[in-house]
Amino acid sequence: MSAVIGIDLGTTNTVVAAVRDGRAMALPTETGERLFPSVVSFHPNGSVLVGREAKRRRLQDAANTVYSTKRLIGRSYDSEEVRKARSRSAFVIQEGPGRGVLVEARGETYTLSEISAFVLKEAKRIAESTGEVVDRAVITVPANFNDLQRAATKVAGHIAGLEVQRILNEPTAAALAYGYGKGNQERIAVFDFGGGTFDVTLLDLAGSVFEVLATAGDTFLGGDDIDLAIAERMAERYLKTHRYDARADRQVFERLLASAEEIKIRLSASDVATVQLQEIAFGVGGKSLDMPFSMTRLELEQLAAPLVDRALGVCREAMGIARLAPILRSSHRGRGNDTSSAGSSQSGRVFWTFTARPVERRRGGGVGSGHSSVGAFRATSWRYGSAKIPTKNHRSGIGGATILWRGDDCRPRGCAFAFDTTACARR
Ligand SMILES: Nc1ncnc2c1ncn2[C@@H]1O[C@H](COP(=O)(O)OP(=O)(O)OP(=O)(O)O)[C@@H](O)[C@H]1O
Ligand SMILES: [Mg+2]
Repeated sequence: MSAVIGIDLGTTNTVVAAVRDGRAMALPTETGERLFPSVVSFHPNGSVLVGREAKRRRLQDAANTVYSTKRLIGRSYDSEEVRKARSRSAFVIQEGPGRGVLVEARGETYTLSEISAFVLKEAKRIAESTGEVVDRAVITVPANFNDLQRAATKVAGHIAGLEVQRILNEPTAAALAYGYGKGNQERIAVFDFGGGTFDVTLLDLAGSVFEVLATAGDTFLGGDDIDLAIAERMAERYLKTHRYDARADRQVFERLLASAEEIKIRLSASDVATVQLQEIAFGVGGKSLDMPFSMTRLELEQLAAPLVDRALGVCREAMGIARLAPILRSSHRGRGNDTSSAGSSQSGRVFWTFTARPVERRRGGGVGSGHSSVGAFRATSWRYGSAKIPTKNHRSGIGGATILWRGDDCRPRGCAFAFDTTACARR
């Protein structure tokens, strides 16, 4: 019988996994990466590029490079989300049959399932690179994808030549990958701030039984929105200094978005980041208009705060569903020695703590390793599809716990909010 692969078909990145030698593992691309961008580019020579190369083409040929379609799949052409995407997308989005959505590239139109199928075919190709035949898959989707979105994802699988064995919720997949086989009894929160969607799911794990206590999410909230906010800030600055509106030219705005993502990622590791935007436009006498753009982490945190607030609102909702009382706190803390050694004027950082306590004790004493009787909620941020769970980065405590974020240094991957490593250790 042929192998079954697991595919995390992300808005921004896709991961393909398979069981090899009895262990589930994310499979590497030719260049050794364990994920590839969910981007499809239609080249003038007729070829269809998928992944890293396609992402590069976005900078030169945005009109024929399609990305983030997961945000639109299964939605009606009249929906708010599609309207938003049309207003900012460099590729053409058209109305299809039954109020569906089509995208246009190089004179051809494609359904969103067809676009996703190119990404899934790439996943299949990676899995088959060892010579194995792969024609069955389990594909993950955000927990609150509706039936239409799930069906459209399934269709994409069929077009890619995969029999879709199951459509699995992303946080359930995360919890399975985290807890399966460990036999632990614990309650976890899966907090997945991805490229396009945000999900939070609270689960009880008891041996091989995984009980979803609550799930909530926003299918239009993610890193893409942070990039957009930064790119808009750049465009405003550009308009002010050069009297040129970068938003009016979609190809130019694509370059701003790419630089915005770069800034955001760099700010996860440093306090300030600068990019040089060259030849964005040409002024009097053909003189190229260049622009350096700098941003501090504090500025980014302020810019992204409304998006983080939305994510925390979703967390509150999940807590309510699970009949757990959330205590959400945000606090500014000085950085002490750090500030002076870095020589920066940054005086504080926003730390988000998210604690939970059961509204009432769960019948049977609840779960956990002895903390449950006093309402401990062990939480850890996690992301399905790459690397292992950083259990060393989470903390449980009496009467509540702090959700930390995935990453070796407590920095979230899908969100630019940074936790200070030392603070994580102290907390
Ligand atoms: N070091 C980093 N710091 C901050 N953000 C990062 C970093 N690395 C990647 N990102 C952001 O993470 C997002 C992609 O995350 P992820 O791969 O989890 O999304 P996805 O699974 O494709 O999307 P979704 O789950 O929403 O469908 C992008 O917005 C990307 O810019
Ligand atoms: Mg994801």
